[in-house]
Amino acid sequence: MKLPWQDSGHVYGLISRRLHWAMALLFAWQFLGMLIKLAIGRSPLTAFLVGTHRPVGLLLLALCLLRIFWALANAKRRPAYAATWGGRLARLGHITLYVLMLLIPSLALLRQFGSGKAFSAFGIQFTQDTGIEIAWMVAPADLLHGLLAWCLLALIAGHVLMVLIHRYRFKDGTLARMLGKSALAQRG
Ligand code: HEM
Ligand code: HEM
Repeated sequence: MKLPWQDSGHVYGLISRRLHWAMALLFAWQFLGMLIKLAIGRSPLTAFLVGTHRPVGLLLLALCLLRIFWALANAKRRPAYAATWGGRLARLGHITLYVLMLLIPSLALLRQFGSGKAFSAFGIQFTQDTGIEIAWMVAPADLLHGLLAWCLLALIAGHVLMVLIHRYRFKDGTLARMLGKSALAQRG
């Protein structure tokens, strides 16, 4: 049985799954890099990881916008949340994940553009060195980028924990909606 491209009542389709897992890998890279930086300080490995942080962050923002567009386009088709407190909490959790996934790189980019320093990624020069720092563009990320990013990491840990609880305690099909093909068997 082949997975559909679009979402359906029982499964997330190929596009939603690829976006979900590709972004999960990229987030793992971002957080691992920052954790290694905090743990071992300056080193060639840290320099490499920190060097990838801005381009990967930019890519994550682009993928997030694409994912929101796709989620809205599939809103009436994708697996519905249960009409229970658990279902409402899951919806709230997912919406909060989206808000943080948008806010964290957006604030960082705003700071980057206001820093007066040249910025390029993927061979594209986004800004030139002007030497002029714009305080209102820099301040929000100085205050919130790291803090919100660690909150996101905590929420991701809660998200993964809930998936494990669904899989091994409730033994329901929550994980199967996003991984593997077993959920297709109960297609309606
Ligand atoms: C969604 C994507 C991103 C995540 C999850 C993320 C996560 C993080 C984390 C966890 C830290 C360490 C904070 C600390 O030391 O306590 C950090 C720092 C930093 N990030 Fe990001 N980041 C992302 C996107 C970006 C982007 C797009 C840029 C710039 C274009 C950027 C620039 C920076 C800079 C300059 C720092 C060091 C200063 C600071 O802590 O604010 N990040 N980021
Ligand atoms: C090992 C890591 C992960 C696992 C096992 C996992 C598993 C899942 C599963 C099974 C679902 C479907 C839940 C449902 O239908 O109610 C889901 C949905 C979702 N996950 Fe994850 N996830 C992981 C990492 C992440 C990360 C890193 C993020 C974002 C930072 C994330 C964001 C979301 C969002 C927003 C949804 C709602 C569906 C969507 O709009 O794509 N997940 N995840």
